[in-house]
Amino acid sequence: MKIFATYNIKGGVGKTAAAVNLSYLAAREGYRVLLWDLDAQAAATFLFRVRPRVKGGGKGLIRGTRSVDGAIKATDFDRLDLLPSDFTYRNLDLVLDAAKKPARRLGSLLAPLRAEYDVVFLDCPPGITLLSESVLQAADTLLVPLIPTTLSVRTLDQLTEFVAGMNGHRPSILAFFSMIDRRKRLHKEISEQLPAQRADVAAAAIPSMSMIERMSVERAPVTAFAPRSPAARRYAELWQEARKRSKLPEPKPDDAW
Ligand SMILES: Nc1ncnc2c1ncn2[C@@H]1O[C@H](COP(=O)(O)OP(=O)(O)OP(=O)(O)O)[C@@H](O)[C@H]1O
Ligand SMILES: [Mg+2]
Repeated sequence: MKIFATYNIKGGVGKTAAAVNLSYLAAREGYRVLLWDLDAQAAATFLFRVRPRVKGGGKGLIRGTRSVDGAIKATDFDRLDLLPSDFTYRNLDLVLDAAKKPARRLGSLLAPLRAEYDVVFLDCPPGITLLSESVLQAADTLLVPLIPTTLSVRTLDQLTEFVAGMNGHRPSILAFFSMIDRRKRLHKEISEQLPAQRADVAAAAIPSMSMIERMSVERAPVTAFAPRSPAARRYAELWQEARKRSKLPEPKPDDAW
């Protein structure tokens, strides 16, 4: 089981859009996938048409009084399950703070699911909190969407430094450009130059596209409702790069849709 987390300290950069589309693509390819929506805004939960309701709340899951397995919901798509979030997730940091070894908590909650899933995506809220630390400890690969500005590159350097300073497990980092506005010269320059210069920046990138915004109207991944669109192709490229980078073994071919 490989754990990917879409993470950035910044909000509104395309974390949820990536988590939703890459989860869908992984499932379509034949992997058994779980997407855990860790954000109280419940955007990923909404996009997969699941009710944002967790019995016992986030607290029950983190404390272990409710099983993670029992909270998992099916989506409309084969092999793709969702662990929804609800508004109680806004207090997840406080609950984690009261737990033993909070930074390891998510990892240990996910460990029993190893036999059931090949791929897990964690869709994180923005910020750098105890929850994010727990995500960093649990994840094999961090997928970091970056808006192509000089500051975003700084954010990536800060994250890289933080991860380098972690004890024990360190996730690998794959950043990718997100919401590229081709009309902006700076966007174009940075997003064309950086992938060639840095191994931690993906060659695949996601432009700003109204088709991607439409996901909240369709309530489905763009890769599902417009699989042949340029937007879907970009996410497919990103998924292939993330899959290879994480050394995820090929799925059994007879499982693909
Ligand atoms: N490539 C894109 N082009 C156009 N719109 C996009 C793109 N990616 C995401 N969006 C839109 O921008 C908004 C923010 O995207 P998203 O929810 O994926 O970001 P996020 O990083 O998860 O935000 P948050 O930090 O609030 O969780 C959404 O309305 C989404 O539909
Ligand atoms: Mg989000």
